[in-house]
Amino acid sequence: MFEWNESFATGIKEIDSQHQRLFEIGQEIDVLLGTYLDESTLDHALELINELKDYTEYHFNTEKKLFIKYNYPDMGAHLVQHEKFIEYLKSIHPDEVKENQEEFLHDLLNKIAQWIFKHINNSDFKYVPFLKNMMK
Ligand SMILES: [Fe+2]
Ligand SMILES: [Fe+2]
Repeated sequence: MFEWNESFATGIKEIDSQHQRLFEIGQEIDVLLGTYLDESTLDHALELINELKDYTEYHFNTEKKLFIKYNYPDMGAHLVQHEKFIEYLKSIHPDEVKENQEEFLHDLLNKIAQWIFKHINNSDFKYVPFLKNMMK
């Protein structure tokens, strides 16, 4: 599900390595879902979801710093998208994950994957020409 390919590459090194890390964490959760879920694998899944949350915040911060540094004209709308996604990630309750387990985790992972792919392709790619030009 979280296969990285060149079509996601922006050509901005820092951004690409962070996006790749996000894919890696997603991939780890996906692999875990393919195994038998018991108490310890569920705990592991929750840890990975937390890691994804933290890393996403860290990544969004990197983008925000670049926007501010180069005064990206579309930063307002972009940052609102980030905030909404962070809110969504924060609304995930460990109890819910534990109750419905597989179904819940599959749904969750699908939503997260779709959001990240869409956001990179539609929103992140919008800043690429601007930032590349400014960073020259
Ligand atoms: Fe991004
Ligand atoms: Fe972004």
